[in-house]
Amino acid sequence: MEGETKIEIIHIEKADSTNEEVFRLKDRYSIPFFVLADFQTSGRGRYGRNWVSPKGGLWMTGLFIKKDENDGFKFMFGSAVVVRDILRTLGIPARIKFPNDVYVENKKICGILVEEREGLLAVGIGLNVNQPKPPVENSTSIFILTGKEHDINLLAYNIGKHLMEIDRRNFNDVFREYKEKLDTINKPVIITTDYGVLEGVFMDITEDLNVILGGEVINFIKVERVLHLEENYERGY
Ligand code: BTN
Repeated sequence: MEGETKIEIIHIEKADSTNEEVFRLKDRYSIPFFVLADFQTSGRGRYGRNWVSPKGGLWMTGLFIKKDENDGFKFMFGSAVVVRDILRTLGIPARIKFPNDVYVENKKICGILVEEREGLLAVGIGLNVNQPKPPVENSTSIFILTGKEHDINLLAYNIGKHLMEIDRRNFNDVFREYKEKLDTINKPVIITTDYGVLEGVFMDITEDLNVILGGEVINFIKVERVLHLEENYERGY
């Protein structure tokens, strides 16, 4: 039998944001550890947005030690791969939209928020699981897609276990896998940067984190948001 990976998941009923809670608990548990909440009262999304987090979803954050310069990016990209692959084992054809949203049938099912403080990385995963209705416009859940309730604790364990593996792998290896599974390559996008809005075909993202958009090279840290033109993926989120 496959050896069980021991992971610590602190399961609480309510959090403001599990990304906040892990930083509060950092001295009480040995890092890495995870916090899973039944619901969040101030769930945070990217770009300072609110993240709707009612009961029935998986709201979990892992706290990791940042060991290498690229570790934040490693978790950003690696978490999307982890969720995509787990959804695929359930028969759900999940796809990664750049940089790290997980979509099914053009609807968002999972968002990821990685935050860094004092050499620690909070890796927050929001996955719509048992919500019977789309939590926000243009979103979906595992229940909507499969017609069945799924065990959130088991999903949390699986995600946690795979995030621990990401922690052990190096950036280049995780990045290579991410690029193979990224669905945005060769698709038209509009990218907003801090110096303007650019439209073109998303050709590539390089290992040194430059986005190649048509003939333009955009440093990833300048990318503020990405609109996927073909199916207008970002609508409603
Ligand atoms: C996004 O905007 O796509 C990122 C959403 C991330 C949501 C998760 S839910 C668990 C963790 N706690 C938060 O407040 N946010 C992340």
